[in-house]
Amino acid sequence: MSEKGAMSTSGRKKVTLGDLYAKMERGEPITMLTCYDYPTATFMEQAGVDIVLVGDSLGMTILGYDSTLPVTMEMMIPHAQAVRRGTPSAFLVGDMPYMTYQPSTERAILNAGRFMAEAACDCVKLEGGVEVVERVKGIVDSGIPVMGHLGLTPQSAIALGGFRVQGRSAPQAKKIIDAARALEDAGVFSILLEMVPDRVCEIITERASVPIISLGSGPKAHGQLLIFHDMFGLYPKFKPKMAKVYGNAGQVILDGLKAYVAEVRSGAFPQPENWFGIKDDQFAELKKLLGEE
Ligand code: KIV
Repeated sequence: MSEKGAMSTSGRKKVTLGDLYAKMERGEPITMLTCYDYPTATFMEQAGVDIVLVGDSLGMTILGYDSTLPVTMEMMIPHAQAVRRGTPSAFLVGDMPYMTYQPSTERAILNAGRFMAEAACDCVKLEGGVEVVERVKGIVDSGIPVMGHLGLTPQSAIALGGFRVQGRSAPQAKKIIDAARALEDAGVFSILLEMVPDRVCEIITERASVPIISLGSGPKAHGQLLIFHDMFGLYPKFKPKMAKVYGNAGQVILDGLKAYVAEVRSGAFPQPENWFGIKDDQFAELKKLLGEE
């Protein structure tokens, strides 16, 4: 069931592919953030974020796994639906989980279609270079826009030697530049570059005819992405270098939780404004009904 009819909390106009291309042409930076839930999505709607990514990083940020590999479509779809309800106007990206597109083009198309049909996403994102070109073509030919993802691709983190910068050697950088070209030729509408050196990102951006989004890849891309939980101190396990912290919501929550525990224990909570009462006449009637008059 489509979620697209939801009311915008901001009265904002729906972001379209045309809007993203227009920003690229004007040299106006595109904003992109990850999001996994309804309340956060309503804030992103009000803040005017252009692209919202329901990332399979939810396996780590929300579900507490050590990697994104255990994430399934069944985990992703309810989160994508919740985010769409919170931000009817952002350009919404459904992130294809591990093994939902690698095995076959048919499976890739069916799973991409689920993001569109069940969660009203505007596109899907999948990781990889030349090895996913056939999958990209198949999905694009089905009428679904695809965002590519190069550099550090977390689903292949083991093969890449961990969560580390990609493209630091000239041959590795050339491979990423060639992969970006191959993805563009296959029909992606945009490419995310994660943890690629800034000057390599700059070359790809200069040569690209689609918006390039940087995650830790420097300022020369057409847009920037951050992981929401890194921005607000909500991921306790580690903080990547590229993540600027915009506030410590984690500390605010922890302080509040400690205060709650202390107040319940001391009796300071609840106070009359925190509970509901019954009128005297009804209470007297109740006592009668209970035979306790
Ligand atoms: O899942 C995700 O949030 C991502 C980002 C790391 C780019 O793919």
